[in-house]
Amino acid sequence: MKILVVGGAGYIGSHMVKLLLEQGHSVITFDNLFSGFRDAVLGGAFVKGDLANRTKLDEVFTTYRPDAVMHFASYIQVGESVKDPSKYYLNNFTNTMNLLDTMVKHDVKYFIFSSTAAIFGEPEYVPIDEAHPKNPLNPYGRSKLMVEQVLQDYERAYGLKSVCLRYFNAAGADPEGLLGERHEPETHLIPLVLQAISGKRKDITVFGRDYETQDGTCIRDYIHVVDLCSAHSLALARLMKTNESRRYNLGNGAGFSVNEVIQAAERVTGAKVTVVEGERREGDPAILVADATLAREELGWNPVYFDLDNIISHAWQWEYASSQVAVAAVQGSVFR
Ligand code: UFG
Repeated sequence: MKILVVGGAGYIGSHMVKLLLEQGHSVITFDNLFSGFRDAVLGGAFVKGDLANRTKLDEVFTTYRPDAVMHFASYIQVGESVKDPSKYYLNNFTNTMNLLDTMVKHDVKYFIFSSTAAIFGEPEYVPIDEAHPKNPLNPYGRSKLMVEQVLQDYERAYGLKSVCLRYFNAAGADPEGLLGERHEPETHLIPLVLQAISGKRKDITVFGRDYETQDGTCIRDYIHVVDLCSAHSLALARLMKTNESRRYNLGNGAGFSVNEVIQAAERVTGAKVTVVEGERREGDPAILVADATLAREELGWNPVYFDLDNIISHAWQWEYASSQVAVAAVQGSVFR
């Protein structure tokens, strides 16, 4: 099959490209490289382009004639979305509309969309299933929910079939060590803790210890990036077989507190982290845990790397390698 991966040079997209290539698919990556990296795209065709450019998109569809599209490209920082909503609505919503309209124009019927737990807002109950009310608290979550809603209209009007995958906390890295998380700036807990261990940062700030959880820190459901990617493959296969659009929540169904993540990182690396106590970060729900029963039952999805230490060890393999490269670069400049 020919699959267009939009945002295939980013964290999750690049792992997806790798998996699709391993599965024997023909892959075309479309990425503007604002936050992605060309060297993270391990094969297939690559087109540098922006979703804001409909002419370019048109060219890509004419040239490559994809059978399906997976859409990973978006801005992902909740705090930034509150300060600059326009950036989020333009990129995450309007640009996605360009993509969908181009698909309709070229009669490409299958779409897999990267959605998020942020569409649910403050949980009314946990674990969160697909029926949970959707009340996003910020423009980031709202921009993703808007796309989910538009997809229902596009199915009715144009027959476009889709699967929306609501990620909880994507984490980990390619077990072979070829890919990993490279956000700039990094805001996610696991890479930040590991950078505090590798020496890229001096400490990790815990955002609040007064939540109603067992140790007072926030609880999240960390799901390995490779398991997320396997869900995409299964979702696309089911979509093409049944022609039934779906929405699935993707997580392990197990929550870990910030404290537990730090302890696990210390266990995996054998090093101590300097912890700084911070204030609560605005908009952080106390507990976010997925009920992924539907994905398990309908897709036969079975996360392999559900163990937190395993997730962190893969992330550490990546972080350690990149910190060694950084050290070598510094030493190189000293001795030059
Ligand atoms: N945290 C810290 N210190 C840090 C960074 C994070 O204590 O330096 C805490 C956060 O407060 C939170 C937990 O670690 O409790 C996880 O934070 P992340 O930033 O790693 O992830 P989030 O849960 O905030 O974000 C995830 C996705 C977003 C999505 C959001 C939905 O990465 O894309 O869930 O709420 F929008």
